[in-house]
Amino acid sequence: MKAEEYYKKLGKVIISASQIERKVKEMAKQISKDYDKNFPVLISNLKGSFRFLADIVKYVKIPVMIDFIAFQSYEGHKSIGNVRVIKDLKIDVSNKNILLVEDIVDTGITLDYIIKYLEEFKKPIDIRVCTLLDKPSKRKVYVPIHYKGFDIPDVFVVGYGLDYKEFFRELNDIYELKID
Ligand code: IMP
Repeated sequence: MKAEEYYKKLGKVIISASQIERKVKEMAKQISKDYDKNFPVLISNLKGSFRFLADIVKYVKIPVMIDFIAFQSYEGHKSIGNVRVIKDLKIDVSNKNILLVEDIVDTGITLDYIIKYLEEFKKPIDIRVCTLLDKPSKRKVYVPIHYKGFDIPDVFVVGYGLDYKEFFRELNDIYELKID
């Protein structure tokens, strides 16, 4: 594929890099305030939230620990019951406060699975959720969201860590993807 064809797949910018930066700073400030006594373990579900996590960490003013988890579903990410852990946590989070850092919550199925997995097998004190993006119109299962960046409409977005077939993660703005 030529670079011009690659960029042609992008629609309009939904959220610009400067809007993201402003919002992430605000969120990091709130997180620092809320966790000033019980420092959290920030957990990122790979790979979409790697940039968001890095920016949150850049602006927090409290000690944090960081870990990564990865799940794979057998029939695409929409299925439940067919999900397995392909990279587990290294940190023992029992008796710790977990802050899950997510790129986007769509149906909520992934997040619901992660929360249930962590509660059942890792026994943390507490789990909170921080997501950059939310598509509330797509929700199928209730998931608690404690820190949210932006609500977006039901469009497929890429950039700032979010991908389509592993591409577009390097973009600094978040774009609507033109699906052909
Ligand atoms: P859910 O289980 O339906 O909430 O899906 C959550 C996961 O689907 C996210 O962590 C993303 O990996 C992926 N996803 C959902 N919507 C988008 C999107 O618009 N762009 C890129 N990835 C998405």
